[in-house]
Amino acid sequence: MTRAISLHNVSKRYGRAPRAVDRLTLDIEAGEFLVLLGPSGCGKSTVLRMIAGLEAITDGELRLDGQLANDMPPGDRDMAMVFQNFALYPNMTNRDNIGFPLLVENPREDRGPRVDATARKLGIEDVLDRYPSQLSGGERQRVAMGRAISRRPSVFLMDEPLSNIDAKLRIQLRSEIAQLTREMGVTTVYVTHDQAEAMSLGDRVAVIRGGVLQQVGAPRDIYALPDNVFVAAFIGTPRINLVQGFVHAPPREGMTLDLGSQRLPLPEPLSVDHQLLRIQQGRPVIVGLRSEATRIGLPSQARPGEVPLTGTVANTDYQGHEALVYVDIGSEPAVVADLESPRPDGSPRRRRARPRPGVLGRLKGRTVARTPGPPLALGGSPRLPYNPYASYDPAAQRVGAGELVVRTPPSLWLQKGAQVPLLVDLAHLYVFDRHGRRVSPAPAEMLGEDV
Ligand SMILES: Nc1ncnc2c1ncn2[C@@H]1O[C@H](COP(=O)(O)OP(=O)(O)O)[C@@H](O)[C@H]1O
Ligand SMILES: [Mg+2]
Repeated sequence: MTRAISLHNVSKRYGRAPRAVDRLTLDIEAGEFLVLLGPSGCGKSTVLRMIAGLEAITDGELRLDGQLANDMPPGDRDMAMVFQNFALYPNMTNRDNIGFPLLVENPREDRGPRVDATARKLGIEDVLDRYPSQLSGGERQRVAMGRAISRRPSVFLMDEPLSNIDAKLRIQLRSEIAQLTREMGVTTVYVTHDQAEAMSLGDRVAVIRGGVLQQVGAPRDIYALPDNVFVAAFIGTPRINLVQGFVHAPPREGMTLDLGSQRLPLPEPLSVDHQLLRIQQGRPVIVGLRSEATRIGLPSQARPGEVPLTGTVANTDYQGHEALVYVDIGSEPAVVADLESPRPDGSPRRRRARPRPGVLGRLKGRTVARTPGPPLALGGSPRLPYNPYASYDPAAQRVGAGELVVRTPPSLWLQKGAQVPLLVDLAHLYVFDRHGRRVSPAPAEMLGEDV
């Protein structure tokens, strides 16, 4: 037995604080592996605890297999939860820990066969007669998993189950969890702040920010078509390059994307996507380029859809199988911390406080005033002090202001300060409006397609 979980406009309010979970609507299919992903404090655990019945729902509806379950006692929900700090009973052997839920369920049943089968699945047969304190972190977390699965619940709820485990083991356990839950075909809701974990595990990933669902979709889809700049920045390593841009479309001239001191010419005839960018004419936008969108190459080597740019090597980072080259293209980084959290329907988020002008708004004057000069103007441009996404991704911490991360073969050795010709693949270029919503590639509704 496995069950479908459906949340409709579910909110959680703790006292007078703003909603910790804000009108979340999400349908999780029976047997699906869904990951809730977002930065710390965004409300992931709260969602999980509301599904489990450990936290009251302030507003909205929770349905299990279509039945309203807001007030269903936790014990009737047939769910098992695994936490970050695997709470095992220290004075019980691992065997008894795994068998404990079975004991609660049916004290007269012989638990042996099911405990053994569970231990075999998890590769922990050898440690069953030891105590939790005699195990390594990875073994303890396997026992905790064992305790969750021995009872064969209809739903697994996992709250950052791997965050206390060292990196190498985490990757191993990650694939074991994926295999195990798929084998069992049990609906799983998995909480993490680690985008790599989310991408590797989820059938679908739901990205949450500040209690608000930003986007839900298959890992490939949210990577390829992030609905907004937050999702784009949160997913993918190295982090997407985000720079301030400006759509320049004078009458009878070609359209360009101004990136500070350089312009990206958009090829004529304009694609439908690029034609739609005319709406953004005269407004600041954010241009996103994933590391795979840019390569080092001369204009003469451009393939169809690639346009040239130049930059100066700021740093290189040798990784063995590849090198990451940080190239300064004389642009301003886009700081998205002050962007309002876009709602799924695209309407701006209401605030009680007086709206502050967004960073982009404040920078608008400056961006407009900058005239595209010679191919490269380095050094003198004003730099923003920090990047809010740096803390999400260790690789991002090395990204300086306005630098592009370009992947190159490790054999290519580039000196700091060297000028390099770049080719940008327009198929991998994103444009976000000043609210952070993706406008190119155009969302289906902008193209007038049925969604
Ligand atoms: N019991 C509680 N009382 C008051 N505030 C809480 C409580 N639990 C969580 N919160 C608040 O709700 C927000 C979401 O928390 P949480 O769901 O734990 O986030 P996450 O799991 O994504 O890190 C945070 O601002 C947190 O401080
Ligand atoms: Mg949490």
